[in-house]
Amino acid sequence: MSDQARSQALIELNRRYTFFSWSVQSAVKPLAMVGAKGSYFWDADGKRYLDFSSQLMNVNTGHQHPKVVAAIREQAERLCYAYPGMATQPRGELGKLLADVTPGDLSKAFFTLGGADAVDNAIKLARLYTGRQKIVARYRSYHGATYGAISATGDPRRLPVEPGIPGIVRVFDPHCYRCVFGQEPASCHRECITHIEEVIRFEGPDRVAAVLFEGVTGSSGIFVPPNDYWPRLREMCDKYGILLISDEVMSGFGRTGEWFAVDNWQVVPDMMVVAKGLTSGHIPLGAVIVSQPIADHFEDRYLPLGLTYGAHTLACAAGVATIQAYREDGLIENAKHLGQTLGRSLEALKENHPSVGDVRYIGLFSVIELVKDKNTREPLAPWNAKPKELGVMADVLPALRERGLSTFVKWNWIFVVPPLCISEEELRTGLSIIDEVLEITDKEAQ
Ligand SMILES: Cc1ncc(COP(=O)(O)O)c(C=O)c1O
Repeated sequence: MSDQARSQALIELNRRYTFFSWSVQSAVKPLAMVGAKGSYFWDADGKRYLDFSSQLMNVNTGHQHPKVVAAIREQAERLCYAYPGMATQPRGELGKLLADVTPGDLSKAFFTLGGADAVDNAIKLARLYTGRQKIVARYRSYHGATYGAISATGDPRRLPVEPGIPGIVRVFDPHCYRCVFGQEPASCHRECITHIEEVIRFEGPDRVAAVLFEGVTGSSGIFVPPNDYWPRLREMCDKYGILLISDEVMSGFGRTGEWFAVDNWQVVPDMMVVAKGLTSGHIPLGAVIVSQPIADHFEDRYLPLGLTYGAHTLACAAGVATIQAYREDGLIENAKHLGQTLGRSLEALKENHPSVGDVRYIGLFSVIELVKDKNTREPLAPWNAKPKELGVMADVLPALRERGLSTFVKWNWIFVVPPLCISEEELRTGLSIIDEVLEITDKEAQ
């Protein structure tokens, strides 16, 4: 069988017997991925791709990190699984490492299987701890696909499964390029912050359990908030006795050039939700990490939470090795350092291409927003575009893939979120491929 025939057979096998997420099944066009290393992966045809999205913005250490693979192998030989009522070495060790790397008094972890169930459990913990029900979340946000998490999500992925859980209140986002308050950064009074307090006042502050926001918004378009955003949220939450929860599932573990996005503004939330970079995708794992007062609260109270695979032994061993890899390989420093090169290169793309309306970036977390016209800012494909509405944007991903670059392209956005181990040369190679492909979108722009 030729490589191409083997690849097609593999895709068919997957297509026929398994569902693909967030898609009309007949329209999916997966690559048959068979191997990966560092910043690259390759398909069954033997074609190699530079991974500019770290798969789903999670393979932060790079693919097949040798220390993480070795830790999984060693743990698998010793003990694969212990039920969540057992104490194990990797679980205790990972809990302690998380207390070390998270800010302030965040000190005790409840382990889950991924991000969405970590968000669900954070919502439950906030309600149990405060005795209040409402959760304030944002429109341009994604928190996961379990029922609680998708209810807190503002992104249109929630719409087909509504109504969700009760008690979610949504507010607007710090989206300076398309400010709903009609402001420009120069004239702005931080309406994106002040209106949140107004909403909380109308909702009854003593009924609001938590404000749940992504550290830096990820798949809804990378919105880096103004510098005073998180500090003022912290003040507002303290004023009303509301818990502040930072969802760091995508923005955590070095992505923004700091361990966690909130570290960029020295803010300590009451709870942090993590997953993705926690094991860099090598094994599923998520966690909610809570502050000391919340941890203490459950010392003499029942904790009504649990999952068969919570604190999975293999996953915790992978987590320990992943945190060691961030430290030993200097990955977070690399993200901060190369983030500056990335920022400068993105600004140059904006300067040189009529179709690039905005670029947003922090560390190695970034997006290119494409428009028909820089003056009107009309997007090249509308928000929540259906396949027929994508226009030239539908040509972008195939053109990138053809040139050996894989990334996440959604509506009028091209994401640049490479593994934190990427070299400057690899980063420049990927950006030059994007530069070339933007000539296709430029043809549709003024
Ligand atoms: C910010 C954020 N929170 C939660 C989740 C859900 O994580 P998972 O897909 O592991 O359930 C995601 C996934 O993309 C995310 O980006």
